[in-house]
Amino acid sequence: MSGIAVIGAQWGDEGKGKVIDLLSAHVDVVARYQGGPNAGHTVQVGVQKFFLHHIPSGILHGQTTCIVGNGVVILPEGFQEEVRTLAEADISVDGRLFVSSRAHIILPDHLEADARNEEGAVRIGTTKRGVGPCYQAKVGRTGLRVEDLLDSSRLEARLEAIGVGTDAAPLAETAASLKKFGDFLRPHVADTGDLLHRRLKEGARVLFEGAQGTLLDIDHGTYPFVTSSNSCAGGIAPGLGIGPTAVDGVVGVMKAYGTRVGEGPMPTELNDAVGERIRERGYEYGTTTGRPRRCGWFDGVLGRYAVQVNGLDCVALTLLDVLDEFETVRVATGYRLGDKLLDTIPLESWALAEVEPVYQEFTGWQQDTSAVRNFADLPQRAREFLAGLEKILGCPIGLVSVGPARDQYIIPEGSQLRTWFPQV
Ligand code: IMP
Repeated sequence: MSGIAVIGAQWGDEGKGKVIDLLSAHVDVVARYQGGPNAGHTVQVGVQKFFLHHIPSGILHGQTTCIVGNGVVILPEGFQEEVRTLAEADISVDGRLFVSSRAHIILPDHLEADARNEEGAVRIGTTKRGVGPCYQAKVGRTGLRVEDLLDSSRLEARLEAIGVGTDAAPLAETAASLKKFGDFLRPHVADTGDLLHRRLKEGARVLFEGAQGTLLDIDHGTYPFVTSSNSCAGGIAPGLGIGPTAVDGVVGVMKAYGTRVGEGPMPTELNDAVGERIRERGYEYGTTTGRPRRCGWFDGVLGRYAVQVNGLDCVALTLLDVLDEFETVRVATGYRLGDKLLDTIPLESWALAEVEPVYQEFTGWQQDTSAVRNFADLPQRAREFLAGLEKILGCPIGLVSVGPARDQYIIPEGSQLRTWFPQV
């Protein structure tokens, strides 16, 4: 293998950080292709927890080169803070962290606009990190890119041309702080597309790291309750400046149940004691905002959709242990919409808010799985649940995570992941 993608296949927060951290020990390069400070990857190394927003979690492995691609949007204060936190833990980013000169910068005006929009009629429940307005400026061709920070006279001219300094902070103030950020960033700025091409040509193993999840994709998610980038696997090529043929395989990360933060439809949401139990057992609170996540059963209809949209080769199923104590575990296999029975998502996005899930019920295994490391040692009923999920999804499960620690995972026999990463 040379290029494998690990992407979110639900509404984000699927536990990608852990899977990426595990696999990035065996790759040479980890590359982020979209999103920005809205993402929050939690990686636990020993007793220390790292919260990364822009920087790929591969940075925690000393040998790995990390790329922040052109498709990513960068919040200067947030980015600097991450580098500082890593430095405090003696993790050096020098010569290993590269940022695309074409990545866009989140400006004070974008932060203001995000907050303002959230008070308007269409509330999305954003992370308020200015991500949507920054992508809006990019597509509207009034964005500021990393390259603009590198020359102060060009920077001021560009800021003036795009009308910065009228709202949140005066131009001179914004220009001065962006210039400082440019100086901070300068040693890391690179033509990351070219860098990736060269590394791939040399035979380097590359991991493409997704942020958010498929159902938050601007085109394929639950629009308008989505983020503003292509978080599905299709976003990799434009977000990094490589051809789609560079992606040899795609792993979709899914939780053993469902969560969502922010507004928008979630057919399997449980506003009851069961939902609360999932939230408490899974500690389902946002990494970036601390918001309690909406919890519910695994949605197999949306899961099948994610398999299709991303062309998944296999699923990495996380947080199985959260379901350990449940008497029954349910998975939605279809929807009822009026008098119709659907096995795919409805044609119109809005109808997803009106469907009633049809569930398949599994008997709970009611045993602790957190210490299990071999598939055969899982309780019989947990194995039945996993086999049922594979059938519902039409996609094999290549990894099962049973806890937050690095070693709490199981690779089933014949897993595609083992062919790509014999060492895991
Ligand atoms: P934005 O990306 O901040 O504009 O937020 C748009 C939607 O995506 C909101 O529903 C957010 O809660 C959601 N969102 C953005 N980033 C993440 C993430 O990393 N995990 C989960 N949800 C996210």
